[in-house]
Amino acid sequence: MLRAKISCVTSYVPDDILSNEELAQMVDTSDEWITTRVGIKERRILREEGTGSSDLGARALQALIDKTGIDPKEIELIICATSNPDFRFPSTASIIAEKVGIKTTYGYDIQAACAGFLVALQAGAAYIQAGLYKKVVVIAAEKMSSMVNYKDRNTCPLFGDAAGCVLLEPTEEETGVMDTIFHTDGMGLPHLVMTGGGSVRPASHTTIDKNEHYVYQDGRFVFKHAVADMISSSSTIMQRNQLTIDDVDYVIPHQANLRIIEAIAERFNIPEEKMLVNIQHYGNTSAASIPLCLSEFEHRFKKGDKLILTAFGAGFTWGAVYLVWDYNS
Ligand code: UT7
Repeated sequence: MLRAKISCVTSYVPDDILSNEELAQMVDTSDEWITTRVGIKERRILREEGTGSSDLGARALQALIDKTGIDPKEIELIICATSNPDFRFPSTASIIAEKVGIKTTYGYDIQAACAGFLVALQAGAAYIQAGLYKKVVVIAAEKMSSMVNYKDRNTCPLFGDAAGCVLLEPTEEETGVMDTIFHTDGMGLPHLVMTGGGSVRPASHTTIDKNEHYVYQDGRFVFKHAVADMISSSSTIMQRNQLTIDDVDYVIPHQANLRIIEAIAERFNIPEEKMLVNIQHYGNTSAASIPLCLSEFEHRFKKGDKLILTAFGAGFTWGAVYLVWDYNS
């Protein structure tokens, strides 16, 4: 049986840091509030003029090419998960391919908000399992700062810019993407949305005046669902693979709020060293948060380690992936 293994992971974050102290000079907030309510100390912001999510994604992909030494011509498919495409069309994946100088691949984007990387990972793995491709790159690239209103204290402390990238290749071993589970419940629409700029409300002076080109979030409502849904999908995937938390080496949850992560850890009684967290440095980087975490903690992973990845985002869309790590870092 063919499986899709992750054979390399890389990430990219911009150099520019936006600290809580700086935010407190922009809106009515404080380092104390952000730290205790969300667990974020700083986030990265892509400030270079004329750059977008594709630049983040291209830099993560270039790092992957440099790290593996792979001939870029061998990459058959690039799937890019993003809620911040450079343009409504063409796909950000196609722009990334061009920026990295790959003319021989094909690519498309996936929109599944903060769950985008896991959804794209499942899609990439399915192509490999079906025998269609041997080298698939899954990228999550999010210039979240492009949709944040830096006058809205409810949202501006939360988000940061980043990209993460993995290479998927076939394996006949018991490693790689073992199982996936996803759900969508469209009732989430009014609670986490950017209403302006789409086909329902195309960009106009009115949409701009009403700040509809910024992210809107009903934080408390989203919080409750994020906790419950990441717990239930993680629980289901562990049960159906006969795993207890003792069998699992690492859990990587979407990094949206440290209190959400702590609630998941408490529910499953996950020891601190197994629950991977980097939200304090990067904030919520939407689809990029899980590959960014994989990349940051890659040095800890050993071949055979069992990982549960879980994400929740707009839609609502959420789910979990059971992954067995394939290499010693
Ligand atoms: O990634 C996709 C999924 N997203 C999530 O999972 C995020 C889920 N939600 C959350 O993480 C949290 O709900 C937030 C971090 C967004 C908000 O935290 P909260 O503890 O739920 O705060 P709240 O919205 O209930 O607001 C509590 C208070 C309010 O004041 P009052 O009404 O109690 O007087 C807010 O006005 O905190 C106030 N507040 C702030 N105070 C200082 C809201 N934002 C700020 C702020 N600084 N930045």
